[in-house]
Amino acid sequence: MNDDSLGMTHSWDAAGILSIVFDRPGERVNLLTPEILQELSRLLRQARGHPDLRGVLFKSSKPGMFIAGMDVERIAAVRDSREGAEAARFGQSVFQQLADLERPSVCAIGGTCLGGGTELALACAFRVAADAPEVRIGLPEVKLGIIPGFGGTQRLPRLVGLAGALDLILTGRSLDARAAKKVGLVDEVVPAAYLEREGAGLLARAIAEGWPRAGVVSRSRPWTGQALEGIGPLRRAVLGQARRRAAAKADPRDYPAPSKAIEAIESAFALPPAAGLDHEARLVGELIANATTKNLIWLFRTQAALKSRRALAQAAPRRIRRIAVIGAGIMGGGIAQIAAQQDIPVRLKDLQPEAILSALRTARALWSSQLRRRRITPREVMQKMACIAPTLDDTGVRHVDLVIEAVVENLEVKQRVLADLERRLDERAVFASNTSSLPISDIAARALYPERVVGMHFFNPVHRMPLIEVIAGRRSSPEAIATVQELAIRLGKVPVVVKDGPGFLVNRILTFYVNEALHLLAEGVQIEAADRAMRGFGMPVGPFELLDEVGLDTARHVGGVLEAGLGQRAGGPDVLGTLVDAGRLGKKNGRGFYRYRRGRRAGADGAITGLLGAPPVRELPPETLQERMVLALVNEAARCLEERVVREAGDVDLAMVLGTGFPPFRGGPLRHADSVGIPIVADRLSRLAAAHGERFRPAAAFEEMVRGRRRYYPEGGEA
Ligand code: NAI
Repeated sequence: MNDDSLGMTHSWDAAGILSIVFDRPGERVNLLTPEILQELSRLLRQARGHPDLRGVLFKSSKPGMFIAGMDVERIAAVRDSREGAEAARFGQSVFQQLADLERPSVCAIGGTCLGGGTELALACAFRVAADAPEVRIGLPEVKLGIIPGFGGTQRLPRLVGLAGALDLILTGRSLDARAAKKVGLVDEVVPAAYLEREGAGLLARAIAEGWPRAGVVSRSRPWTGQALEGIGPLRRAVLGQARRRAAAKADPRDYPAPSKAIEAIESAFALPPAAGLDHEARLVGELIANATTKNLIWLFRTQAALKSRRALAQAAPRRIRRIAVIGAGIMGGGIAQIAAQQDIPVRLKDLQPEAILSALRTARALWSSQLRRRRITPREVMQKMACIAPTLDDTGVRHVDLVIEAVVENLEVKQRVLADLERRLDERAVFASNTSSLPISDIAARALYPERVVGMHFFNPVHRMPLIEVIAGRRSSPEAIATVQELAIRLGKVPVVVKDGPGFLVNRILTFYVNEALHLLAEGVQIEAADRAMRGFGMPVGPFELLDEVGLDTARHVGGVLEAGLGQRAGGPDVLGTLVDAGRLGKKNGRGFYRYRRGRRAGADGAITGLLGAPPVRELPPETLQERMVLALVNEAARCLEERVVREAGDVDLAMVLGTGFPPFRGGPLRHADSVGIPIVADRLSRLAAAHGERFRPAAAFEEMVRGRRRYYPEGGEA
């Protein structure tokens, strides 16, 4: 049977070679599904008994793609530990059939090869990879809170050794073809155009040389590695060190997968193969039912959904061939760089030649670092640099399909830039402002074509932050919104469509969180105690560290916009104003809540309490600090959804995780509220309101949810 709809076909040739080809119809990626595994199992059973079988060759007919892993939707559908362990055992059994074949098998990898794809490759006798930038081989399961479950934790350590396997499985990082060859994960790297021929050639050689008796390819690992694995106490020392390192990076109670992965890898050396596989499957089962795993998988799926074209507003996007970026500062420069990274020609305009030079230098430095990591060739660097056309005037803007404005945060300046450009632009060109706080409808207030004006709010640093808020002004057209969404996706970012309003979504919610930290400070809580408490909650940095990074002047400005828009409840104590007036701008001028030595944070600044006239030191337990700051944030997140700033709870949660680093294992503020329990959240907020004032008054949504016994997501997390 050759069922195309399955995404896997096979054929036999006259020489007795069974070729198995992956190609999911109509999709860009190949994924494994239980159905494909069933079919593979059937094929392998048939092949095993086939008198003509000489060898098996796996390949994909999609460019740049082997197999991106198991279909996450199917992983998410697993209900409990038992089902999870069973699913792993089934996958293991299919790949074991492959590993047990008495004839050689070769996997030809011409592109993305992740998770289950890599585990399939590991079960083959040999692996050949194309020397192409699309090739990425790895086991990223820990990023989803699980571990490789189709034998990956057992076969990888045996192939590449303990140290290499720990590195790849615990980081979830992927390797290019040459790096994979270096660690022994693939046997040969060949020019992309010859991948299939070379794969077939290797198979023919293995057959001719009498595999498995003959070596066929040489796989030598340094003796030091082998000694480490062979001697029990040494091996345990390495594993112990890995455990400590993993625990220092992330608390195993929050992220259990890395420590379970270490347990599984340990079994690869300490147990017979079958027992090792069994242990792996049991650990997958344990992890899959965990709340962290459910949250991480949910975030991955939500992100994927927002990045798909299906998520676009109800309109066809305008095709983007060229863009212009106005303002070559921190943001404009960064935006031009990521556009050029995708080979989109950009005109980069500023009034100051120095700003443009500095933007080009920064872009160049980013590509140089990619060059050092061999992610890009010298020729590509030249091509990408050539995509950025620096300019001090508006010539040529008529030919662009979209303009991103990133000039100073000043309404009049932005309106003027828009007015100057509007007459020169193509009549369908979209004007997107990167404002971080000004209402888009205000920027478009005097526009000739307000329907073409939208917000496209990038986060800093642009090349690293995955989120873009797409802001729909009152009169923005669905076509303009869809165009910006599509561009965001093309730039590798996740677009979340947000209603126009003060601070949009992320900065609005964040302001309430930061304000609460400022209230605590004004009550005598120490800067470092508050930061430590929030890092303990899982935030990447504490609120004062964050304020120093953002810049106290910028934060004050955003706070002002919010207070003007939302009223007094959005106002914090006047700490930022006092500090900015005293010349403290944060990290950028080396003076903020913290002291800085050569650009590095060096302890909280004792002078702050004096400046603010704060009361004597007040020590509160970390839980109390966390509760106040987190509930301030959660309450505002609930309000944003209530006011339909975004459409769904998922938009709020994903945006906060991607835009602020809200702990991914908690799944976002509203998922966190669900897991604490909505009645408990509402009750604590009421108590805080009684003690500290109106700002804690629970969002109306909470009270309604308590009455209706509702939550944001269905119980069990399978939203
Ligand atoms: P910046 O001060 O680094 O850069 C602004 C640049 O615009 C300067 O190089 C200036 O010479 C240029 N400029 C001013 N008027 C101009 C005009 N009429 N035509 C052409 N160029 C002009 O500012 P930054 O930080 O890059 O911010 C730009 C925008 O991005 C602001 O609206 C800001 O609110 C927003 N934003 C900033 C973020 C940040 O973290 N810095 C984050 C997200 C948004």
